Amino acid sequence: MKVVVTRRIADSALKKLLSRYEVVLYDNDYPPSREWLESNILDADGVLCMLTDKFDSELLKKAEHLKVLSSMSVGLDHVDLDAATRRGIYVTYTPDVLTDATADLTWALLLAAARRISEADRFVRSGRWKVAWAPNLLLGSDVYGRTLGIIGMGRIGYAVAKRATGFGMQILYYQRHRVSEDKEKAVNARYVSLEELLSTSDYVTIHLPLTEQTRGIINEERLRLMKPTAYLINTSRGAIVDEKALLRALKEGWIKGAALDVYEKEPLPDDSPLLKLDNLVLTPHIGSATTETRNRMAEIAAENLIAVLSGTRPRYLANMDVVRIRPLVS
Ligand code: DGY
Repeated sequence: MKVVVTRRIADSALKKLLSRYEVVLYDNDYPPSREWLESNILDADGVLCMLTDKFDSELLKKAEHLKVLSSMSVGLDHVDLDAATRRGIYVTYTPDVLTDATADLTWALLLAAARRISEADRFVRSGRWKVAWAPNLLLGSDVYGRTLGIIGMGRIGYAVAKRATGFGMQILYYQRHRVSEDKEKAVNARYVSLEELLSTSDYVTIHLPLTEQTRGIINEERLRLMKPTAYLINTSRGAIVDEKALLRALKEGWIKGAALDVYEKEPLPDDSPLLKLDNLVLTPHIGSATTETRNRMAEIAAENLIAVLSGTRPRYLANMDVVRIRPLVS
């Protein structure tokens, strides 16, 4: 069988595939072009892809032999799941393994924004540190004991909440469904409306998947509900926040600061006005970027793919309905 791997991945994962299949590897750290994908998936049985590879219905149509599309990501907004299901293509993903790394980065960003870490680093490196200690130098905001608003209390949102208990924070959360009372109690979290969360939290962090319902959900109207002393952190998907509105919020002081790991357009264009703001911490989509996590993500993506091609149920299947369209055969 032929398997396409769209990026250079951990050796441990690649070996699993090389020992079983003919592998076409896009051996690079940057993504393949659409043309490369189109020509290489024509006769592929499996594809191991990244979140930067857009598998829309047009592309899936070309992959006539494709049985499994295994994404090395938890987010699946780059895949047309309905089209894949209709075509009998199993779509798998890698949740769980990246939960802690992403929650850790969320906390790193929250603390960096509150305590102006990036600004302080730039200050020292640029030779502007001339007074040993100054009572008014680079003053930030308290974190301990403040209120944290979590939008999306799934795996990552909950892992962020667990960490917040060590900071003595009150936790508010919003999502479509309430989590169990036991889970709420364990982290001292209260279920509130999105409006209440935004208007009362000192820190607001977003952990939602990108869907048609969540696209642009943090818009001008909602940003204006936030306190002028509050911070916004986003490690989920950029398009959940209206970036133009956020730019104004940061420039005009509707909120105090923000930290972003994800953007409407990635990589962030060189001329993005966001680059000019000092009250904004920027990282380049590195939520899951630890060596251990990325290695495991690649291995799980390979294992999911192998499971489907061997006719067994993969550990992480995103489109459950596909089982009825094309049952697994071992
Ligand atoms: C994902 O997996 O969807 C993250 O955004 C990157 O690790």
